[in-house]
Amino acid sequence: MASYTTYLTFFLSLYLFSFSSLACDHSELPLKAASLGNWLLTEGWMKSSMFDGIPNKDLLDGTQVQFKSTKLQKYLSAEHGGGSIVVANRTKADIWESFKLWRVNETFYNFRVFNKLFVGLENKGQGKGIVAVSKIPNSPETFEIIRKDGDLNQVRLRAPNGLFLQVKSETEVTADYEGSSWEDEDPSVFEMVVSGAIQGEYQITNGYGPEKAAQVMRDHWNTYITEDDFKFMSENGLNAVRIPVGWWLAHDPNPPKPFVGGSLQALDNAFKWAYNHRMKVIVDLHAPRVSQNGYAHSATRDGIQEWGESDIPETVSVIDFLASRYGTHPSLAAIELMNEPLAPGMPVESLIKYYQAGYDAVRKYTSTAIVILSNRLGGHQRELLSFAKKLDRVAIDVHYYNLFWDGYKKFSPQQNIQFVYNQRAANLSAVTTPKGPLSFVGEWVADWEVKNATKRDLQRFAEAQLKVYKHATFGWAYWAYRCDDCKHWSLRWMIDNGYINLQNPEN
Ligand SMILES: *[C@@H]1O[C@H](CO)[C@@H](O)[C@H](O)[C@H]1NC(C)=O
Ligand SMILES: *[C@@H]1O[C@H](CO)[C@@H](O)[C@H](O)[C@H]1NC(C)=O
Ligand SMILES: *[C@@H]1O[C@H](CO)[C@@H](O)[C@H](O)[C@H]1NC(C)=O
Ligand SMILES: *[C@@H]1O[C@H](CO)[C@@H](O)[C@H](O)[C@H]1NC(C)=O
Repeated sequence: MASYTTYLTFFLSLYLFSFSSLACDHSELPLKAASLGNWLLTEGWMKSSMFDGIPNKDLLDGTQVQFKSTKLQKYLSAEHGGGSIVVANRTKADIWESFKLWRVNETFYNFRVFNKLFVGLENKGQGKGIVAVSKIPNSPETFEIIRKDGDLNQVRLRAPNGLFLQVKSETEVTADYEGSSWEDEDPSVFEMVVSGAIQGEYQITNGYGPEKAAQVMRDHWNTYITEDDFKFMSENGLNAVRIPVGWWLAHDPNPPKPFVGGSLQALDNAFKWAYNHRMKVIVDLHAPRVSQNGYAHSATRDGIQEWGESDIPETVSVIDFLASRYGTHPSLAAIELMNEPLAPGMPVESLIKYYQAGYDAVRKYTSTAIVILSNRLGGHQRELLSFAKKLDRVAIDVHYYNLFWDGYKKFSPQQNIQFVYNQRAANLSAVTTPKGPLSFVGEWVADWEVKNATKRDLQRFAEAQLKVYKHATFGWAYWAYRCDDCKHWSLRWMIDNGYINLQNPEN
């Protein structure tokens, strides 16, 4: 507790500083916000029933499959992880034996191997041998997965030449089998092992397919969050929302497939509702076209982090679009340039180049909106400070979860709470510097690895975080406002059930 008092004094002086410098047009700072997660950008773990209507819903884009020949009892493997032949001589399945699905439709798929190449028929489809050499999947790389009635993990793979894949031997896999039995001895039968499912916007829209996706998504946008939610938030001590969005919204009403149009209208509505209830909006580009972290919430197709400097112009054009549309809206508080870039795949130098260009794009339309720079996951917490100091009205976004690391599994409730008062307070003060950028705890949640916590334990954990995070000079945002499959992640549920009370002046 001693160290907490030290930080408190430190924060108090900072607070006075930021108040005097920002009072003119940002007197509402620091913000208390909820993230409207899983609204305009799907995150299946928050409401998995959204995927229930998809045929073969266990075989979505990015799901990893492995194929064990029932005859040889060996796994298919892309030799060297790709660039060579496909063999069937592995007793154990690891990364070379795992194929990431690209879904063409409910039965046709491409298989992406470890080094990002695609499995296909050799000689551009003219041969019958199976190789993994193509950079882009075309018809020679498109296979039909035929599942056995009554045992969906028994499969046969029909190649684009109409014939089935078979294991002629451990080192000879060809597409020239015409039989059709489900006997274990049949060289075309495989046991399919499915793992690593991704449930993001790409998966849900491509899974439902062009006809159904538009309807499903529009129903979701119209019902998941409504004006009543803004009313609830404003009546319960919140003064802002953070809204994660995807790049396709800049192409509304006709974004590239599989994404569907209409989310822009929903975002327009959010601004209107925020205005009606005197709330502020933080627009957060969670999903650029090329994934910055490989997570489902980046709307990745297959979980591979591929964003690089060549993607800067396209990503900036999305920011430009958002800033031009909302830059002068009275409810705009901030634009966040990119959520959770992941180190080390994202070099800090590349990120800074992008942040500079994104900042300049926002400033074409507004001199007052805050520009939010998300720290890299796994990066050094102060690595953006010297760059950010040179910019006007920016905030550094840090995300604090007492989960996703095995160490937290050993923490008792009291240890979690102390961790917040000590470590988190120290971490936040390290990015809250006089004359530097504002600080923003852009994601946190009152949930943890503790299995048998009492209600009082969890209340104290939430209180501890509120007490510490209120010293973030830009504010904080709870993840999330609503979460159907995870009640502690729903601020609405936490407030309705008396776990969090933002009316308490201490918070
Ligand atoms: C599998 O077959 C390939 C091609 O002949 C060979 O290079 C590789 O060493 C074999 N691996 C095992 C584990 O037998
Ligand atoms: C699925 O895709 C394959 C390959 O492009 C095509 O031949 C087939 O007609 C499609 N099936 C449906 C139901 O659209
Ligand atoms: C948070 O602070 C602790 C203690 O000062 C430090 O060890 C840790 O590395 C910091 N965390 C981050 C993400 O920088
Ligand atoms: C449950 O909590 C008690 C103390 O509150 C602790 O000693 C015990 O190890 C916990 N059990 C589990 C399974 O976490």
